[in-house]
Amino acid sequence: MLNSIKTNSLQYESKKIGMMYFRVAIILFGAQLLMGLIAAIQFLYPSFLFEIFDFSVARMVHINALVVWMLYAMIGSVYYMIPDETGREVVAPGIAKLAFWVLTAAVAVVVLVYIFIQVGSGTEMTIWLINEGREYLEAPRWADIGIVVVVLIFYYNVLATYLKGERTGIMTVMVANLFALAGLYLCGMFFTDSITMDQYWWWWVIHLWVEATWEVFVGTLAAYGLIKILGAKREIVEMWLWIEVLMLLGSGILGLGHHYFWIGTPEYWWEIGALFSALEPVPLVAMFVHVLYDWGKEQGKVEAEGGAHAINNGPAMAWIATNAFGNFLGAGIWGFFHTLPQVNIYTHGTQFTNAHGHLAFFGAYATILIGMMYLGLQGAYGIKHMRATALSKWAISLIVIGVLGMTVALTITGYEQVLVERAELGATWEAYFTAQNLLWYVQGMGWRLVMGVVTFIGFVLLVMDLLTIGQRSKEQQGSASIQPSAA
Ligand code: HEM
Ligand code: HEM
Ligand SMILES: [Fe+2]
Repeated sequence: MLNSIKTNSLQYESKKIGMMYFRVAIILFGAQLLMGLIAAIQFLYPSFLFEIFDFSVARMVHINALVVWMLYAMIGSVYYMIPDETGREVVAPGIAKLAFWVLTAAVAVVVLVYIFIQVGSGTEMTIWLINEGREYLEAPRWADIGIVVVVLIFYYNVLATYLKGERTGIMTVMVANLFALAGLYLCGMFFTDSITMDQYWWWWVIHLWVEATWEVFVGTLAAYGLIKILGAKREIVEMWLWIEVLMLLGSGILGLGHHYFWIGTPEYWWEIGALFSALEPVPLVAMFVHVLYDWGKEQGKVEAEGGAHAINNGPAMAWIATNAFGNFLGAGIWGFFHTLPQVNIYTHGTQFTNAHGHLAFFGAYATILIGMMYLGLQGAYGIKHMRATALSKWAISLIVIGVLGMTVALTITGYEQVLVERAELGATWEAYFTAQNLLWYVQGMGWRLVMGVVTFIGFVLLVMDLLTIGQRSKEQQGSASIQPSAA
């Protein structure tokens, strides 16, 4: 589908491989949204596709596709930035391409198994072949092992290229962080009979990804992006990066405790989780300030010199700025809301959690990864200044309004659950259903669906823009460079 995008202007194989990963990422993003829409319709009309395509499957594919498209876009971003940061080609591009195809074939098989073979009893064998049963990481064991092999190849490529090339601060953080990120995946691969122990280790993947290693990853992308787009000073950007890394790991690692409140782990996790996870918004503020400060400073400098084009990639900068806001709001504010055990005892597992999940994943990750795709296109078409088109603007506006709208709707339903199901009716099984049939809940679900449709329309425009902006900017650039000589 996205093969129409040309990558001829890219000198490095590594960057071309990056673009391959971006293409699959955007397709999986689309699949994620379609599954979300199906699940959202089923909330309102439970008989929709009943026994043909169950809610459990739609939900599972929705969140697994989410994780996988983000991993694809992350790997793509790394391959894309390696030549810029190390000054050289990746050491083994051939194997990297092979690994890409193996991974993509495996993902396709897993998705087909998710969609067609999920009903029946679970045995040891189904863990290996059908579904491992861990939310977000349901892929069966064979695929887990395949993923580990592919990631080892990826990591070898990154590390060896780093060691042979220039070693910037950004790449040093990247290499160390990827080691942790990949290593944590192993925590979700073994099976125990105790659900407490199982959940205990599962959170090492989920929480230590999204609140530690993925956040550090985003820090490196923002640093790289600000240098590329604004020409920000490397020393300053890297200084921020080191501070952010320190704070992210300082709060994020023990912040893990906010998932150990009610799963059967010792009670000291209440205090540890409360304290450290309450500190987690601090580095997110730093990241927020960092992006906006650098942006403002560079803009001011160029304006003082009377120049234009302070931003050489409009859409990428818009998405990175959205990331700074979104990360702070979705992870920082919506996370902080329910992170103290005194609050979480009421909000745990309500639609409030869902509101936070949507805004955080979107704000902290989807945004900046889309920004990286625009940066990739700029390189692929060899464009000096890539301006936002009407499509770019419509796409970002509709997607942001859609996700914010869903978040507000889900927050209201969550609030209703807290008041009615938890506080008033005492969190019984019956209360769970009573709360879900009240108007505030049902209307909230209706608005979530409406806003989901808005998000999806925005996504369609985004794809149209990604497919055409390169060619259009190139034509514009061509005519712009002809004009002065004609005048
Ligand atoms: C970008 C970063 C983040 C992402 C992507 C994220 C995402 C999520 C998701 C998807 C869940 C639901 C997990 C499940 O299915 O059970 C969750 C739960 C939770 N998150 Fe975050 N989160 C982030 C950062 C934060 C931060 C910074 C805080 C605290 C300050 C926080 C506090 C919590 C808490 C307390 C829960 C448990 C909710 C419950 O008990 O139901 N999160 N997060
Ligand atoms: C078309 C737009 C979307 C719709 C209609 C939609 C709908 C849904 C539905 C119905 C669920 C299941 C909730 C439940 O079990 O109560 C869900 C879960 C989830 N979705 Fe979406 N979604 C959409 C877009 C997104 C986006 C853009 C992201 C992130 C980038 C996202 C991330 C998640 C996450 C992390 C969960 C699990 C939350 C949790 O367990 O608390 N979704 N979504
Ligand atoms: Fe967490």
